[in-house]
Amino acid sequence: MLDSVGAGEDVLEELRALLAGEPDPVANAANTAALLYARLPRLNWVGFYFLQGETLVLGPFQGQPACTRIPLGRGVCGTAAARNETLVVPDVHAFDGHIACDSASLSEIVVPFAVAGRLAGVLDVDSPEHGRFGPADQVLLEAAAGIYAKSCVLPP
Ligand code: SME
Repeated sequence: MLDSVGAGEDVLEELRALLAGEPDPVANAANTAALLYARLPRLNWVGFYFLQGETLVLGPFQGQPACTRIPLGRGVCGTAAARNETLVVPDVHAFDGHIACDSASLSEIVVPFAVAGRLAGVLDVDSPEHGRFGPADQVLLEAAAGIYAKSCVLPP
């Protein structure tokens, strides 16, 4: 998707600058979702789910309205969170248990993130294109989720 690794680095620099000095997790999730949605091509949904107990609860996002609660282990988001690892799904219809929020979504990547050492939620990104997310996207979105997670903890 990215023309070069440099293009991804520009987005990450922009994200660092956008979140600098602001610890509010909702405000920073909103700006992270908005920036990624504006800068990365061929996406139809970018947003956050925050872990509350055993459930992922919808947070700030860009795109069509989405399902509000996803139990751990359900769908792409719940599976990524339960495994605490990034899931790249080139064809969501081939993923057993995929939860269809926007029928336009054909591929998806879900990146779990931790705050203060504990799983805190996932960054979910959908595309209307099959096989939209490759290794460079995974690196970029894992870095973006890490920048977001770090922003929620003020330095001492
Ligand atoms: N497709 C996700 C649900 C969230 S929406 O894509 C925004 C899933 O299967 O977990």
